[in-house]
Amino acid sequence: MHTLDDLIAAGVSGRTVLVRSELNVPLDRSGATPVITDDGRIRASVPTIKALTDGGAHVVVMAHLGRPKGAPDPALSLAPVAARLGELLGAPVAFANDLVGPSARATVQGLTDGGVALLENVRFDARETSKDSAKRAALADELVALVGADAAFVSDGFGVVHRKQASVYDVAQRLPHYAGYLVTAETAVLRKLTGNPDRPYVVVLGGAKVSDKLGVITALLAKVDTLLIGGGMAYTFLAAQGHGVGGSLLQADQIDTCRELLAQHAEKIALPRDVVIADGFAADAATRVVAATEIPDGWQGLDIGPASREAFAAVIANARTIFWNGPVGVFEMAPFAEGTRAVAQAIADSSAFSVVGGGDSAAAVRQLGIDEAGFSHISTGGGASLEFLEGAELPGITVLED
Ligand code: 3PG
Repeated sequence: MHTLDDLIAAGVSGRTVLVRSELNVPLDRSGATPVITDDGRIRASVPTIKALTDGGAHVVVMAHLGRPKGAPDPALSLAPVAARLGELLGAPVAFANDLVGPSARATVQGLTDGGVALLENVRFDARETSKDSAKRAALADELVALVGADAAFVSDGFGVVHRKQASVYDVAQRLPHYAGYLVTAETAVLRKLTGNPDRPYVVVLGGAKVSDKLGVITALLAKVDTLLIGGGMAYTFLAAQGHGVGGSLLQADQIDTCRELLAQHAEKIALPRDVVIADGFAADAATRVVAATEIPDGWQGLDIGPASREAFAAVIANARTIFWNGPVGVFEMAPFAEGTRAVAQAIADSSAFSVVGGGDSAAAVRQLGIDEAGFSHISTGGGASLEFLEGAELPGITVLED
């Protein structure tokens, strides 16, 4: 696989370089102007873009925000991201308010050496995510026409390498392609986990749905020493053990699967011993701490309890390798944040090789004010890092390999 360093070494001054970045950041739209609540992914994208601007390239960045329905949606415009990227780069970013239309053409033509343009949300074009390869190919051809056939492509959006999409996959087939610094760094870290990790290897998995993580759970159980399960999906496992879970999140169709996993790997799977329950899904709901086996009807579990926090932290303290994906409670609401805080803090305090797997868990680290330096690596990829650990083929990586 060719890397950004190979491209830089060959010289990029005056050359147009199309970069796929991962700039899908959470936005608070409650006020008059949208506010980026966690700019971690933008910050992680800067080194690649900076290396190219320092080399004098004309840098054209493409990215997505959210999941628009294949048509422009002003609420999901990348305009606020362009402004933040410019602040972080210390130089203005020219924003094109379309992807391959007149604004994009004028913006790209207006670039000077070391200049950066950001194109509007690639997912405003339905062809980006189309399952029909001819439609994706048509968009990729238009993107290549935009930057010119002698441009280079740098794939740096690690968070989307598991997606076979025009800006990730099809464009790479049409231009000389290079792995950006973020893609190179992320894959190197995750390879340490799929290779021969130091033991004990402990994984903490949270998040809402078992079904979303079944593939990775199965792959990890073959590899880890202990799998600590929290978050919404813990309740389906508790139900599989025969316990009532009241009004907690439950995937009834996954109970049998969870029962089988528990039967096969009883010694590896650890579930919460106690939970914080609430009489409603609200920050001001009444709360109680109960044994995880005794959740009354009318109440729902929204966080792991103090005994679980202690038990999870003890397992984490003993680990030599740790991977964490998914909050273990509804950390966005203060009464249900302590479980996630305890897990994050225990990992930060540990001297083990520790990886936070993107998405909500990375946001939790920052929102709860845990020192990021305590983690060996905070991934920018949620689904991508899970699919990597699952051993799935990642189209956005495979396409860079020839
Ligand atoms: C993410 O947030 O994990 C990535 O940006 C991928 O987003 P997607 O799941 O909408 O493809």
